[in-house]
Amino acid sequence: MTILKKVEHFREEEERLKWEGTFADYLELLKEKPWVAQTAHSRVYNMIKDAGVEEVNGKKEYSFFKDQLYGVEESLEKLVEEYFHSAAKRLDVKKRILLLMGPVSGGKSTLVTMLKRGLEQYSRTDNGAVYAIKGCPMHEDPLHLIPNHLRKDFYDEFGIKIEGNLSPLNMMRVDEEYGGRIEDVIVERIFFSEDKRTGIGTFSPSDPKSQDIADLTGSIDFSTIAEYGSESDPRAYRFDGELNKANRGMMEFQEMLKCDEKFLWHLLSLTQEGNFKAGRFALISADELIVAHTNESEYKSFISNKKNEALHSRIIVMKVPYNLKVDEEERIYKKMIADSDLSHVHIAPHALKVAAIFTILTRLKEPTKQGVDLLKKMRLYNGENVEGFNSQDLVELKQEDPDEGMSGIDPRYVINRISSAIIRKQLTSINALDVLRSIKEGLSEHASISKEDRERYLDFISVARKEYDAIAKKEVQKAFVYSYDESAKTLMDNYLDNVEAYCNKNKLRDPLTGEEMTPDEKLMRSIEEQIGISENAKKAFREEILIRISAYARKGKKFDYNSHERLREAIQKKLFADLKDIVKITTSTKTPDESQLKKVNEVIARLIDEHGYNSTSANELLRYVGSLLNR
Ligand SMILES: Nc1ncnc2c1ncn2[C@@H]1O[C@H](COP(=O)(O)OP(=O)(O)O)[C@@H](O)[C@H]1O
Ligand SMILES: [Mg+2]
Repeated sequence: MTILKKVEHFREEEERLKWEGTFADYLELLKEKPWVAQTAHSRVYNMIKDAGVEEVNGKKEYSFFKDQLYGVEESLEKLVEEYFHSAAKRLDVKKRILLLMGPVSGGKSTLVTMLKRGLEQYSRTDNGAVYAIKGCPMHEDPLHLIPNHLRKDFYDEFGIKIEGNLSPLNMMRVDEEYGGRIEDVIVERIFFSEDKRTGIGTFSPSDPKSQDIADLTGSIDFSTIAEYGSESDPRAYRFDGELNKANRGMMEFQEMLKCDEKFLWHLLSLTQEGNFKAGRFALISADELIVAHTNESEYKSFISNKKNEALHSRIIVMKVPYNLKVDEEERIYKKMIADSDLSHVHIAPHALKVAAIFTILTRLKEPTKQGVDLLKKMRLYNGENVEGFNSQDLVELKQEDPDEGMSGIDPRYVINRISSAIIRKQLTSINALDVLRSIKEGLSEHASISKEDRERYLDFISVARKEYDAIAKKEVQKAFVYSYDESAKTLMDNYLDNVEAYCNKNKLRDPLTGEEMTPDEKLMRSIEEQIGISENAKKAFREEILIRISAYARKGKKFDYNSHERLREAIQKKLFADLKDIVKITTSTKTPDESQLKKVNEVIARLIDEHGYNSTSANELLRYVGSLLNR
């Protein structure tokens, strides 16, 4: 679909979803779809649930967060179950402000944004539909129209509990516009939209110390007082504060803990009683989720202030720690790079993984468990098998320190270091060593790292580097093994021809020139030495092989290199020894001979075609592994 088609489609969809009717019609609709009367908290919970929940090893994983948040499933489960689920059931937590606490760049804003964007979409679905009194600036819940004395009857008939009272503005409108007939009040379906300030809001104090509460709760419009005659006429009031606009949905409260406590008191009543005071009116009911976020030190200083006690008890704190799994951290970087303007740069395989190893190490607490070091812990957390440890050990390790993941290196730092290396050196291709180097260089400029931590982090750079060395060697070996079968067969045929000639005291014939040759003793020995066959034992070994071949032939079976275990081992070892030589040659000044050059090129082609390298990074890898082998 082209973009214009999509725009058109979206508009048509919106048209199709529109609904407008009287309050009486709405009550009919409620009989069919009682869930549309749910509270804001319940809607958020159902949005997450409807996207799909999977049970993995007894733990819940929510598809809703899967695209954007990685490796923090446990915190998300806690958040969804302990806050959203309980709040959806109208338990006391609903009345509390949700405060996400976590280290910098740990995904708090991402989480809040996902909830907002999610609600916008969800309100366009059948399950997430929201209806409101038409023309109300706060998109008030139509059920508020039911007078208090009839709510019990309403509950008996509909099974729906009503919370909150009709706002002064709508009270007046019912009288003036509808002659008191609530059944005639026009109700419409609304669609959440932050841009249109419907059901989604963000409050960011301009000056936390002298913030005007009107920004939250709206204010009197003095230009209309003359028209309406009095300040207490609700029509003279503009219900355009962020709390008004976010009614029925959610409001993000940025920098909340930086605000003056007097300012925050207004929130107290909102959270406690579900209403807030605006202008000279009776309390105004609001139904919305309020989310704020903060870091640990800001939170600690907030709770240490006695004046904040009352507010503190109205807050529910949920931790959003860093991810602690290497593989998930790598995914985070990939996502951030894909979202950035670095996406055109070639990032060599394992570069991000090695960075992730470093990062996770900085976040882990030293284990106290017997036999576990930081590296083992890192692997266990990553779901890898570590000999001698099982899933119970993992559980115990995780319980050792509840504060784990609240400090360490953040993902943005890593991405910034990668991008600075690329820009500074004008690279079009970056490898693991470049990344580690840049991370290391940045540590001394990083303002918030203590001297002690810096020392530790430098150690972790070395650890990550060692991990990379092992990965790099394995990678080259793997690429080499590609042409392995072919080479192994050729080498064995060659060996057997020579052994046959040797035992039968024959000559060999050169396949090209037809010249006669004596058996190649050097070749045979180079293979036999791999499995420790001495000069004295070579004859017996060769004869044994010949006997084996003729035994195979008598049974009509073909003797291949899997037929003789020791011979196979010898051939494999010989091939790997050759590999070493070839790789070493790429870093030495010696020029490789033709067959070596061919091998090197094959390995490079293999790295490019099958392992995600480009020619720069493949050559760099070979050179690096060569230098490792030369040590
Ligand atoms: N667990 C995670 N999964 C996916 N991305 C993450 C995670 N933690 C952080 N990020 C990414 O790091 C960046 C900073 O996250 P952000 O939400 O702004 O953090 P915060 O608001 O906590 O400072 C974002 O690009 C975000 O997507
Ligand atoms: Mg943030």
